[in-house]
Amino acid sequence: MRADCARELMARCDELGKISDDVGRLTRAFASPAMRRANKLVGSWMRAAGMRVRVDAAFNLLGRWASSQPNAKTFLLGSHLDTVRDAGKYDGPLGVLTAIAAVLHLRERGVQLPFNVEIVGFSDEEGVRYQTAYLGSNAFTGTLKPADLARIREKQIEKARRSEKFLGYAEVHIEQGPVLESKNLPVGVVTAIAGQSRIRVEFRGEAGHAGTVPMNLRQDALAGAAELVLAAERCGVAATVGKLDVLPGASNVIPGQAVLTLDIRHQSDSRRIAAVKSLHSKARSLARRRGLKLLWQPVQENDAVPCDKMLTNIFSQCVANRGLTVLQLPSGAGHDAVVLAKICPVAMLFVRCKGGISHNPAESIKTADARVAIEVLADFLIAVAAVYDRRQSPR
Ligand code: GLV
Ligand code: MN
Ligand code: MN
Repeated sequence: MRADCARELMARCDELGKISDDVGRLTRAFASPAMRRANKLVGSWMRAAGMRVRVDAAFNLLGRWASSQPNAKTFLLGSHLDTVRDAGKYDGPLGVLTAIAAVLHLRERGVQLPFNVEIVGFSDEEGVRYQTAYLGSNAFTGTLKPADLARIREKQIEKARRSEKFLGYAEVHIEQGPVLESKNLPVGVVTAIAGQSRIRVEFRGEAGHAGTVPMNLRQDALAGAAELVLAAERCGVAATVGKLDVLPGASNVIPGQAVLTLDIRHQSDSRRIAAVKSLHSKARSLARRRGLKLLWQPVQENDAVPCDKMLTNIFSQCVANRGLTVLQLPSGAGHDAVVLAKICPVAMLFVRCKGGISHNPAESIKTADARVAIEVLADFLIAVAAVYDRRQSPR
């Protein structure tokens, strides 16, 4: 492998990390001007790696390395190019740029694969713009729900649907947790991705004068929301209120309205669903007690997704062949692979990140680990090709 390919990947992450909708911090939301600029830049890197590039109707960036074999099927690689607000520069882009580096590496070695390789930079994994994650990948797989379409302005997104049957999907992603670092390992192989529920919760009370309405006569929407936030903290699964809007929002006005986002995750779907039910019933009872109106609107629900055994074993074998200890671990974070699993087998490779920190501008990875990820992904494609060839050849 070229000595500088990991350094080039890191420099590209830096450059892409400067393309933002906000001044002074990295935020790239679905279909935003920054996303268009990011697609242009990453598209130019795909082209330089010899790929044919286009952007679909859902703003997903697609780069294709066509196989020379006639009627070849397609294997997908990728991750997302949108970010959270005030993001780090590796969550998402690392997977897209590692895939480009792996393709470039294979092409430079003159490798020919029996399938097309398509790299996708998905346009919405984080759900910052509409609170519902995976718009890009759901458009790609043709699994957008009517509720998603009702929520968004970009109705042409449905035209992104692909009816092709894909061989598989592999995604490289930073771990976003501390396990690999604690074991001193550069990469790990993902076994399954936790399920998640996202809910919009609104409490409506009565706005009033902060100095004149007695405490026991108030219908304070924020006080109700605060009770729910604390209940979420104690609910026994990963539960997060990441956004809370208080209206009308003045220091001398009792809050008449509070709107919050609830994000609930667990490896076990039954435990996650039980936690959602229990928080809903808690919200109903506290709203009754406080004289508040409650609006509980589920916006997203994804079951836990197991990674494909065969592809996962191939990733593990490729890691072992590089002389590294193989660690298999589950993912608490959501990934585009969750949606791709609806249409093809999926596998994921995690890359160690400093302190396990993510969704934070302090996200950091080592160049040496990026190099391992590129090597393992390139080896993975060759190993998948060998399995594919064996299956195609007449016995
Ligand atoms: C994506 O990063 C998620 O897990 O929410
Ligand atoms: Mn991500
Ligand atoms: Mn993320």
